[in-house]
Amino acid sequence: MTQTRSTALWWWKLVAPHRGTLVAGLGATILCSLSAAWVPYWAGRAVHALELADYGRSRKLLVVMLAFTLVAGLGRYLMRNILIGLSRTIEKEQREELFGFLLTRPFAFFERQRVGDLMSRIGDDVGSVRMATGPGLMSFLQAFSLLPVTLGLMIHGSPRLTLAVMAPFALLGLGFYVIGKASHRIQQKLQLVTSELNTFSHETISGEKVVQAFGLENQRIAGFLELSRRQAGLSIRQSAIFSSYGPLAMLMGGLAALVLVAFGGGLVLSRALTLGDLTAFTGYLAALSWPVMSLGWAANLFQRARAGQERIDQVFASPESSLPEPAVIHLSEHPTALRLEGLTHRFETGRGLGPLDLDIPSGGSLAIVGSIGSGKTVLLQVMAGLREAHSGRLLVDGEPLQQAGLRRHWAGIGWVPQEAFLFSTTLKENLAMGRPEATETELWEVARVVCLDDLIKRLPAGMDTVVGERGVALSGGERQRTALARALLRSPRLMLLDDALSAVDSETESRILDNLRAFLGRSTLVLATHRVFVAELCDQVLVLEEGQPIEYGSPAELALRPGPFAHLKRLQSLERELVKGAAG
Ligand SMILES: Nc1ncnc2c1ncn2[C@@H]1O[C@H](COP(=O)(O)OP(=O)(O)OP(=O)(O)O)[C@@H](O)[C@H]1O
Ligand SMILES: [Mg+2]
Repeated sequence: MTQTRSTALWWWKLVAPHRGTLVAGLGATILCSLSAAWVPYWAGRAVHALELADYGRSRKLLVVMLAFTLVAGLGRYLMRNILIGLSRTIEKEQREELFGFLLTRPFAFFERQRVGDLMSRIGDDVGSVRMATGPGLMSFLQAFSLLPVTLGLMIHGSPRLTLAVMAPFALLGLGFYVIGKASHRIQQKLQLVTSELNTFSHETISGEKVVQAFGLENQRIAGFLELSRRQAGLSIRQSAIFSSYGPLAMLMGGLAALVLVAFGGGLVLSRALTLGDLTAFTGYLAALSWPVMSLGWAANLFQRARAGQERIDQVFASPESSLPEPAVIHLSEHPTALRLEGLTHRFETGRGLGPLDLDIPSGGSLAIVGSIGSGKTVLLQVMAGLREAHSGRLLVDGEPLQQAGLRRHWAGIGWVPQEAFLFSTTLKENLAMGRPEATETELWEVARVVCLDDLIKRLPAGMDTVVGERGVALSGGERQRTALARALLRSPRLMLLDDALSAVDSETESRILDNLRAFLGRSTLVLATHRVFVAELCDQVLVLEEGQPIEYGSPAELALRPGPFAHLKRLQSLERELVKGAAG
């Protein structure tokens, strides 16, 4: 696990770009602390003037005290505004950086990651870092700016009494250190469980229909309860640790007050200290107690944030290289030519694709046929440049496809994945996603090609109908055809259709295939299918089995040759006849 910012100064990397704001915040904090530290001093002097029965001077001193209090209030207002604002800016930047980073990850990254976990990093972990860069940092600055001034004033009043009352504070520091260590360990575990819980909830809610249909509710609830119980247990332990900060600080504060009265009182009686000084000391202790108490709280925030930052850094340290930046690309008018030379792609399980040699000329078409798991999708993903070749090469227009050329390759592709994914917006926006400038006429034209026009006319809001999350408001076949229309609208140089008509009835399928013929030649077409009649649309057919090519040729040739394609054709023709017979 690579950690780039796990040093004690990890937060400095976040704050450093905002040095100016930090200095302003520090200035306001110092103004606040300096003025606040002097308030007890002036109170002590006022009491001493009373001791001497100098009432006029005492009144004047009280006015000075009030002035210092007002300045302290102003400083406090500025400090909060600047420092909390700074943390919000850092939070925004970090979230944007993380989101931007995710969008430039290649396909392989998302195969490794779980959505719920990534969401918890963008949400909870970035949030916990903000608590440290905002309220946490403010507490530290406040405590460390107040301490030296107050200590100076205390020593000025009485070095002996200072030493005596500060001893409990030293013990407090030690206590905070021990608690902080324990808290960090629990925090790491807690963040892990929180992310597991997020992943589990996300998966269960996304797959809610399967859960209900298979009666898995109890099993999922049990899984959820287990994770939730672990999370609650750790949270309770964490808050138990957290709760000990306050009482410990109060205990030490009480101890300091006890020392003040017992030891300081003795000093007053022996006339080594004035009553005014003792009053000032009471004020110093009161002024110190909140910042010192909040130090423990702030230390805890930093522990949490460090654990959160480690998890954020793990995302940034992912081994996959970034995709090139999106750019304006001027595409060639010609359809893409593809060539595979000894290409393989293997998963850890040993399954996968190839070695495969294949030539698809510009404007040509290829159907990939094969049983379930034979490698059709993997081959299309390799052609789309989503998966890398492990050996051999993929040539696009005669040039090996490399990372730098991916954006150009993608700009020319009309890709219809096996599982159509629609965004939760209108049908129109989903269709025009790859070409936002498309006209209404063009939208209706592609809708006609995929036989969606009648449906759209029937919808109450027509093209402006909102399709729901992932397109739930549409049927599987409608979703597929929307995805196909979206790809066609781009007038791509290369169409990659992964079983894009599997959820469409055979009559509609035939109509769409007829319409698609008009597209052939204008773009290169590669499609994966289980249906021979779809494959017959193409110039060439490749039959895969276990990732290996077992038959290749034109549909007419293959139909005549005894082999898997001819066998499949016989079966499916028979099936069609039976269906027709039953219908007739
Ligand atoms: N991300 C992955 N990790 C590991 N193995 C995978 C992955 N994706 C696919 N495979 C394996 O690669 C093989 C080919 O999968 P592929 O999805 O290409 O099949 P397919 O021909 O498209 O099947 P179908 O007709 O069901 O769509 C399968 O054995 C599958 O288990
Ligand atoms: Mg597939």
